Amino acid sequence: MPFDVSETDRLLTTTRAVRRRLDLERPVPAQVILDCIDVAEQAPTGGNQSSRRWLVVRDPDTRAALADLYRSAGGNWISEAYAQVQGTGHHNEGALRSADHLARSLQDVPALVLVTIYGEHDGSGRPGLFDSVVQSAWSFCLALRSRGLASAWTTLHLNEADAVADLLGIPDGVSQVALLPVAWSVGDDFSPADRRPASEITWFDRWGRTLQRPTDADPVHADGAGVTVEVDVDAPPSAVWPFVADIQLPARFSDEFQGAEWTSDQRGVGATFLGRNRNDRMGDWEVTCHVVEYEEDRVFAWHPADVETPAAQWRFELVPLAGATRLRFAMVLGPGPSGLTAAIDAMPDKESKIIANRQNGQMANMRRCVEGIKALVEGADLDQKGNPA
Ligand SMILES: Cc1cc2nc3c(=O)[nH]c(=O)nc-3n(C[C@H](O)[C@H](O)[C@H](O)COP(=O)(O)O)c2cc1C
Repeated sequence: MPFDVSETDRLLTTTRAVRRRLDLERPVPAQVILDCIDVAEQAPTGGNQSSRRWLVVRDPDTRAALADLYRSAGGNWISEAYAQVQGTGHHNEGALRSADHLARSLQDVPALVLVTIYGEHDGSGRPGLFDSVVQSAWSFCLALRSRGLASAWTTLHLNEADAVADLLGIPDGVSQVALLPVAWSVGDDFSPADRRPASEITWFDRWGRTLQRPTDADPVHADGAGVTVEVDVDAPPSAVWPFVADIQLPARFSDEFQGAEWTSDQRGVGATFLGRNRNDRMGDWEVTCHVVEYEEDRVFAWHPADVETPAAQWRFELVPLAGATRLRFAMVLGPGPSGLTAAIDAMPDKESKIIANRQNGQMANMRRCVEGIKALVEGADLDQKGNPA
């Protein structure tokens, strides 16, 4: 029998980290927890071995001791971090508020479920052991939610894993993976979170190749094929932004883009600049670019040729990470006419190949550009062509 997809998707998209809406008064029957573990144990496991063990802590004194460890392991740091951003509108204020609440109230949550697995990680950097337990623990969270309970994935206690093992009598050779506070949820109107759309983080056939409109055939121009490159820069967005906003800079790294000049007095959305380009196949060309998004420290996007039906769509985005920045540089071909469409018109049977070649060329230039920006922000000494000085 087919599933009710909308109900399944509602479960999958609304199972949140619940911390402020855990019912601390209503007891959680052991049978409900066991039912959810039975569901969770259906998750895949390497070698088909049953190595996961679930430790359900209900005793109030033990919960209190575990909560103390959680706080000393990092919960207190969360509370301090929240105090610093409280009322500032910081992008993580909501999550910190919620995490602070949990850190303070953990001892009062009716059941603390520690998910463990026999074995120790080999430190290789591969998921190893953990890929036999994480999916099961998440199934447990989903099973809880479908029964009206809730949880939040937590790992801060792992900084005190040895003390937790002493407290709970966990033998050597067992790895703790997550501590899941379990309670009935207060209300059940949880919403999907704001996540990046699949089309922006899914590559087709080769790393970094995107498609604006999914196709099941080889991409053609109308499909909005593109390229995204990303690099993590060891500096906050405010330190990366001046390099991103400098329209000349990519010329130091690209073998096609030659430079640009602003052609409007204003900056920001609606501003224009003239970009100069050169490559062996298309020769020299200039194009007026229209700024379509401009938000300091966050995004700079422009459309060459025509605002509404541009030759391509270009976008720098600065995503804040803890103390660092993920710099994304994205390009989508079309939908408007360009040198590329002229080449396709001349050889329509080669359309997909022309698109793929263009993606490869752009990918190389864009990768050099973000790597170059990273190097400059992090203090490297580069010459005018972006090579180490
Ligand atoms: C690996 C991992 C570790 C986490 N550790 C903690 C933690 O120790 N304490 C906590 O309050 N939340 C923790 N979280 C929950 C995240 O903060 C939460 O998933 C995130 O804020 C997004 O919220 P959402 O799951 O509701 O979308 C953790 C989540 C993951 C995936």
